[in-house]
Amino acid sequence: MDYENGSAVTEFILVGFSGNWQLQIFFFVTFTLIYGATVVGNILIIVTVAANSALHSPMYFLLGNLSFLDMCLSTVTTPKMISDLLAAHKSISFQGCMAQMFFMHFFGGAEMTLLIVMAFDRYVAICKPLHYRIIMSHKLLNRFIILSWTIGFIHTMSQMALTVNLPFCGHNIINNIFCDLPLVIKLACIETYTLELFVIADSGLLSFISFFLLLVSYTVILLIVKHKSPGSLSKALSTLSAHIIVVTLFFGPCIFIYAWPFGSFASNTTLAVFYTVITPLLNPIIYTLRNQEMKKAMRKLWIQQVSCT
Ligand SMILES: *[C@@H]1O[C@H](CO)[C@@H](O)[C@H](O)[C@H]1NC(C)=O
Repeated sequence: MDYENGSAVTEFILVGFSGNWQLQIFFFVTFTLIYGATVVGNILIIVTVAANSALHSPMYFLLGNLSFLDMCLSTVTTPKMISDLLAAHKSISFQGCMAQMFFMHFFGGAEMTLLIVMAFDRYVAICKPLHYRIIMSHKLLNRFIILSWTIGFIHTMSQMALTVNLPFCGHNIINNIFCDLPLVIKLACIETYTLELFVIADSGLLSFISFFLLLVSYTVILLIVKHKSPGSLSKALSTLSAHIIVVTLFFGPCIFIYAWPFGSFASNTTLAVFYTVITPLLNPIIYTLRNQEMKKAMRKLWIQQVSCT
C-alpha cells in the first residue's frame, strides 16, 4: 500500500453518463425541467400548508416536512449531476464526494423515519379518530420531527465515520452519476468486506425491514377499516394507496441499491436517476393530485395572490 507516497485520491471521476453527446443534451434538458418542477412543486406544498389554516393538521404538517426533505434529497445530487452533463471532465472533489454521501444518507434516513411516522399518523386517524387530535398533539409531532432528523444523523454518521478515513490510492473512477457508498467503498485500497456488510445492514436491511413493516401496517389498517366500517373502506383505500405508492417508490430503489450483494445494482444509472430525480417530484404529485383538500387550498392561495396584486 503506497497511498502515503503522495498518490492519495483528491477527486473522483463520475462516468455514469459518458457517451453520446446528443443524449447528454437531452438528459440535461429533461433533468433541468424535472428538477425545476420538483423545487416548485415541493415549495408550493410547503407554502400551501403554512398559509392555509384548514391544513393545520398533523397529516399536512408531516406532508410539508416530507416535501422539504424531498427537495433537500434531490438538491444533494441533481444540480451537480445536471452541470456534469455539460462538462467534459466529470469530476467531483474528495470532500464533495464525502459531503454528497453524508447528506444523501442524512436526508434519506430522516425521510425513512418520516414515512414511518406518517403511517402511524394514518393509523391513529383511521383507527382512533376520536382521539386523533389528543394523541397527535403538537408536542408529539415536534418530537417525531426531531426524532426523524436524529435518526437520519445517526444513520449517516455511522457509515460516514468509517468511510471518510478509508485510504484511497489511485482508483477513482465511479461508474455512476453521483457518489454513493457501495461504489466509493469499493475504491479503497484495503480490504473493505466488513464495511460493505455494515452498509448492507445499515442501509439495505434497514430499508427492507422498514418497507416490510410499513406494508404490513398499511394492510392491518385496511383490515381494521374493513372490519369496523366497511362503508369507509374506499375512502381509506384511496388515502392509503397514495402512501403505499410513495413508500414503494422510496424504498424500492434503496433495497435494490443497498441490500443486493455489493455492486450488482449499485452502478445502475437508471435506478440512481429514479430515486434522486424522479421520486422527489412524484411525491408532491401523488399527494396533491389525489387530495381534494390540498387542491382546494392551492386554488384558494392562488386566488388570494391574484386578487392582492
Ligand atoms: C413540520 O412539522 C412541524 C410540526 O411539528 C410543523 O410545525 C412544521 O410547519 C412542518 N414543516 C413544514 C415545512 O411543513
